[in-house]
Amino acid sequence: MSIHRDTPVVFESLVADATMAASSHNTQPWRFEIGEKRIRIVPDFTRRCPMVDPDDHHLYVSLGCAAENMVLAAASKGWNVAVEVRSSGNAHSVDVMLQPATPVASPLADAIPRRQCTRAAFDGRQASTDDLVLLERAASGKGVTPMMITDKNRLDTVAELVAQGNTVQLRDPCWRKELIAWIRFNEREARRTLDGLWSRTSGNPEMPRSLGELLLRFVLSPRSQNRKDVPWIKNSAGVLVVVSEVDDAAHWIEAGRCYERFALQATALGLRNAFINQPVEVASLREQLATWLGVGSRRPDLVVRFGYGPEMPKSLRRPVTDVVSAAG
Ligand SMILES: Cc1cc2nc3c(=O)[nH]c(=O)nc-3n(C[C@H](O)[C@H](O)[C@H](O)COP(=O)(O)O)c2cc1C
Repeated sequence: MSIHRDTPVVFESLVADATMAASSHNTQPWRFEIGEKRIRIVPDFTRRCPMVDPDDHHLYVSLGCAAENMVLAAASKGWNVAVEVRSSGNAHSVDVMLQPATPVASPLADAIPRRQCTRAAFDGRQASTDDLVLLERAASGKGVTPMMITDKNRLDTVAELVAQGNTVQLRDPCWRKELIAWIRFNEREARRTLDGLWSRTSGNPEMPRSLGELLLRFVLSPRSQNRKDVPWIKNSAGVLVVVSEVDDAAHWIEAGRCYERFALQATALGLRNAFINQPVEVASLREQLATWLGVGSRRPDLVVRFGYGPEMPKSLRRPVTDVVSAAG
């Protein structure tokens, strides 16, 4: 079968789907090189976050999230898809190879525009066993295992680890500085950059940056953050921990694909989700978490709470034209 004549336009629509994926601090650390029969997703190292993500783990997870959106969207739009991770020195990219095929309807692809990280309280309702099975299946990947935690006592332990993580991170002035640089305190900032953490998406009031920075100096503390995070975790239907077998970029990308599928499956089921990654971002806590989970030397990559809750305002994305180029 020959490639469609309007391939670049179609491929750009797949890039648009990919950019709707989750990314750490909404940095959108990706670029897309469009070839004749493939799209290469490459890291944008100008968008690194060395304080929260010193080894680029989250950056590559974000690439995996974008790749999974692209894969699911492509299948639903009539493409046969193969994925390959390529490495060149310290840089890794994802090739999505595309061949025309029959479109396959998919509730996960349909959920792409509705998925979000919901930074809000969930209502304490449990998820059904059938839904938990679907979520676990969605989050499974090659060399990546999902661990579902729904037991109340175990959720308390996760909350305790998150609280310890908040204490370490929020007491670190460099970590705070990096976070604040990615906060968009008002609509004007958010629409100018089309990235970052827009206060509105977390239900926070809008204000000028100068006032926001001043206020955070007083109100952003481990105590204030834990007052929110701990009950939010305890009122979740459960927590997913994504664990990879090997601690390398290929597995981080796969972990991102697993998370994105999980989040889309949750969205399709009417469940919401939000990351609580503090225990995997602080190295000493990550070890503690691995021991507690009994996964030995395997790396816990991501921690996500899920449950029933409100829809929050959507975060913004840069347009496709800002992130694509033709393959060289
Ligand atoms: C690797 C990774 C790590 C993340 N870590 C956190 C986190 O610790 N806390 C949090 O609230 N959101 C976290 N997020 C969510 C992003 O902030 C979110 O995806 C981004 O702001 C875009 O918003 P959206 O997913 O609602 O579209 C993370 C996302 C990724 C991909």
